[in-house]
Amino acid sequence: MCRCHTGKFYLLLNLFLRCPPGSGCTHTFCSKPKLEKCLVFIQAVIHEIQRVANTVPLSVFHCTTKDTELMGYSIPKGTMIIENLTSVLSEEGQWKFRHEFNPENFLDDKGEFVKPEAFMPFSAGPRVCLGEGLARMELFLMMVTLLRKFKFIWPEDAGEPDFTPVYGVTLTPKPYRMKNQLRTPQ
Ligand code: HEM
Repeated sequence: MCRCHTGKFYLLLNLFLRCPPGSGCTHTFCSKPKLEKCLVFIQAVIHEIQRVANTVPLSVFHCTTKDTELMGYSIPKGTMIIENLTSVLSEEGQWKFRHEFNPENFLDDKGEFVKPEAFMPFSAGPRVCLGEGLARMELFLMMVTLLRKFKFIWPEDAGEPDFTPVYGVTLTPKPYRMKNQLRTPQ
């Protein structure tokens, strides 16, 4: 993410975290439309994290139960099917910034939230992740709760972050150190 985006991300997120909906804040920045914008932005951030994190890159393996024809290809019964979600989540023509972390991938020109069809970290179809609803709710609640309580600070002596994932059935980040500072109550 470039510096300009990091700054915007920080400002919008910080505003939302300091003055959440219902906090009664009357500051002009905390008007309802502004807060709605922040909520939209935080949703865009969570979706972009999921897109880039690409948690289950090859989904769950499937198998054809009968001879199948797909886009001109014949797939015999009993063929193992491996979905490439990594490819979909950075598919050319689907994302404004497919190779960078940028919440704008989920915002239109008016700043409204949009979810491109290619956003499928939970896969798609009849066998789509059964826990999608629960996972999405948890992601939102945990992220907002943690960010409201703590500041997450990259330690000065930690060097550049290494974003190379640890490969397995799921992709996980390499272990890293993070300084957590309790936010002062507003
Ligand atoms: C961010 C979190 C999660 C991600 C990215 C994720 C992703 C996935 C993916 C890609 C699949 C394979 C779908 C397919 O076969 O095409 C799957 C299946 C599944 N997931 Fe999740 N999942 C998440 C959280 C959860 C949670 C919290 C639960 C349960 C509480 C859950 C329960 C399941 C189940 C039961 C299936 C198998 C569905 C089936 O085969 O019919 N998942 N998940």
